[in-house]
Amino acid sequence: MRIIKKQLKPCIMMAPTPVAMVSCGDYEHANIITVAWAGVACSQPPKLYISVRPERYSYELIKASGEFVVNLTPQHLTAAADFCGFRSGRQVDKFAEMKLTKVHGKAVSCPLIGECPVNIECKVSNIVPLGCHDMFIANVVAVHVDSSIMTEQGRVDLEAAKLISAQHGEYYGTGKHLGRLGFAVQKKFIRKNGKGTDVDMQHATLTKRKPPKTKKPNTDGQQTVAQSDKQDKK
Ligand SMILES: Cc1cc2nc3c(=O)[nH]c(=O)nc-3n(C[C@H](O)[C@H](O)[C@H](O)COP(=O)(O)O)c2cc1C
Repeated sequence: MRIIKKQLKPCIMMAPTPVAMVSCGDYEHANIITVAWAGVACSQPPKLYISVRPERYSYELIKASGEFVVNLTPQHLTAAADFCGFRSGRQVDKFAEMKLTKVHGKAVSCPLIGECPVNIECKVSNIVPLGCHDMFIANVVAVHVDSSIMTEQGRVDLEAAKLISAQHGEYYGTGKHLGRLGFAVQKKFIRKNGKGTDVDMQHATLTKRKPPKTKKPNTDGQQTVAQSDKQDKK
């Protein structure tokens, strides 16, 4: 195969990126900013980052409180995430306008977005000015997962969360499952399918994952975060 490459000017070609709905500000006056410049910064201690332009309203809120919540976006909230990425909290209450449910956090004062299946509470540890964006590096201080995506074995079934990503100005749903991390080094797999570039991913016999048994909705008196918040509001 002849490999031909074209040179582009240095630019952001990272893809895909997550689409996170980041809640910030205090509970009563909370705001949401959609971010794609976000990711894992460190596993131990768990740290993540979001990069935010100083002109955003959320920038002021996050800088003042040193707190935010990364809410992962499921497919059914794509329009809400887009709205939160094109309207400013200076003009509009995005929680109210998008009919999103505020849920009290455990370690931070800004609310989680109840409708998002995963909510990651963060406290800022460093702010790194980079240019047009400042990077907020933060410690993960609490994580909430909706019971609807927990398996009976207590594992998080992120496939069931149907998260979205972004790729150069377009939103995408999560694609086909292609294999477990480490499948390509398993002897059995190599024997059947070959190695690396020899593997025909269309037809490869992958180690099948057992379909996760999803937990039944709470009937045992256990509260979901959203329920507990609704009760708080009463
Ligand atoms: C998909 C998407 C990704 C975005 N990613 C970022 C980002 O990583 N950083 C940023 O500063 N703004 C990002 N934005 C723009 C902000 O979300 C947008 O300016 C928003 O209106 C700011 O709201 P605020 O003024 O209430 O903070 C993104 C917008 C969209 C739609």
